Formats: sequence, C-alpha cells, structure tokens
Amino acid sequence: MPTSRARQIYVGAGLVFLILHSLPFAIWAMDSGALLLISPDLSENRFYTPGGTIINLAIFAHMSLGALLMVFVPLQFWPGLRARFAAYHRWSGRLLCLVAGAIGLAGLAYIFVRGTIGGLWMDLGFGVYGVLVCLSAGQAICYARRRDFAVHRRWALRVLVLTFGSWLYRLHYGIWYFFTEGLASTPDFDGTFDLVQNFAFYLPYLLVLELWLRREARTA
Ligand code: HEM
Repeated sequence: MPTSRARQIYVGAGLVFLILHSLPFAIWAMDSGALLLISPDLSENRFYTPGGTIINLAIFAHMSLGALLMVFVPLQFWPGLRARFAAYHRWSGRLLCLVAGAIGLAGLAYIFVRGTIGGLWMDLGFGVYGVLVCLSAGQAICYARRRDFAVHRRWALRVLVLTFGSWLYRLHYGIWYFFTEGLASTPDFDGTFDLVQNFAFYLPYLLVLELWLRREARTA
C-alpha cells in the first residue's frame, strides 16, 4: 500500500501526464470552436448550419468549452489543492459542472437538430455519452451540496473519465489507423470499427472506474 505522500506524487504525476497528452487535442478543439467567431467564411465547415444561430453557437461553443474542461477538471483532483484552496475547489467545481452540463446539452441539441455524421448508431452512442455527462455533472454538484463527499467524489470521477472520452475517441482512431491503416473504418463512419467506437470511447473506461470504486469500497 503506498504512503499518502507517495500516493499524492502518483496522482499528481498521473494528472500532469493526462493534461499534457491531451493538450494538443484540447488546443485543436479550442481553435475549432473559435472558428465561429474568427472565420470569415464557414460555408465549407460541416458543423455550420446556415441561418442556425443557436445551433451554431451550441456546437462551436461546446468544442471550445470542452477544451477548457479537459484542462481544469483534472485540477479539481490535484492532491492537497482542495484542502489548501477550498474556495477555489468549490467555485471552480460548480462552474465546471455547469459547463459540463452545457456541453452535454449542446451536443444533444446538435444530434437532435442535425444528427451526427455516422447516423443512427453514432447518434445513439454520442447521445448516451451526452446524457451521462449531464447526469454525472448534476450528481457531482447535488452530492457536494448535501455534503456527502464520498458519493460526490464518485460522481466527480465519472465526470473526469467522461471529459476525456472525447480525446480518447480520437486517440483510438489514431492508434487504429497507425496499425491497421483504417481497417473496418469508412468515411461514413459505418464500418465495424466505427460502430464499436461509438460506445468504446467511454463505456469501457466507466466500467474500469466502477470496478475500481467497488474494490476501493471493499478494502476501505
Ligand atoms: C468534453 C469535451 C468535448 C470536447 C473537447 C469536444 C470536442 C469536439 C470537437 C472538436 C468536435 C468536432 C470534431 C471534428 O471536427 O471532427 C466535436 C463534435 C461533436 N461532439 Fe463534442 N466534444 C466534447 C464533448 C461532447 C459531449 C459531452 C457531447 C454530447 C453529446 C458531444 C457531442 C458531439 C457531437 C454530436 C459532435 C458532432 C459529431 C459529428 O457529426 O461528427 N461532445 N466535439
């Protein structure tokens, strides 16, 4: 069993690793969202809906806000930060949960209005993802307000895992294309690999988290 000092170092190193590895994607997502404000012509952008002010705002804002989430959510778990800067943890936690909920709702609105590029199965996979993001963020706030911090932590960890789902989705594609040159993946996202991917970027990771939380509860 690691000492609490060693545990803090492992957790800190893990969080730094996560932030640094996902940073190129977060910067790209931030830029992709900012295009709505800075690009003079979005007619060629496949996420742009001509005349759709609200849906455009939702889908482009979700990209940039998602990038912020990937940098700031891990900081909520930074060892010692919550104890030393409790007010920061509380206020940024509230804000991050609200932002996560807004991102989830924006993604769901886009699926409802436009549908995803991959059709029904991708709509379903991303739809469940959006619902889980909203649910986890809502529960994390609720249990913090009830001062049930053990359950709050569990929901907050789910938010952390889901936040990185978006990055894991691209990471899976990168690794898959590197080793197989895109076997079972099509431009319409309806190959076997694409279909599995619709759920594989978050469900297995949530399952691992649930198993870990159960093991932790048993050994506590
Ligand atoms: C948490 C961080 C998130 C980040 C950084 C992020 C970022 C992005 C980016 C950059 C794109 C454009 C992808 C491309 O150009 O190919 C995108 C698309 C999309 N995102 Fe997110 N996203 C996040 C969370 C979510 C959530 C929670 C949902 C909930 C449903 C969602 C739903 C969608 C949908 C439906 C699309 C369009 C899919 C398509 O038709 O290609 N995203 N996201």
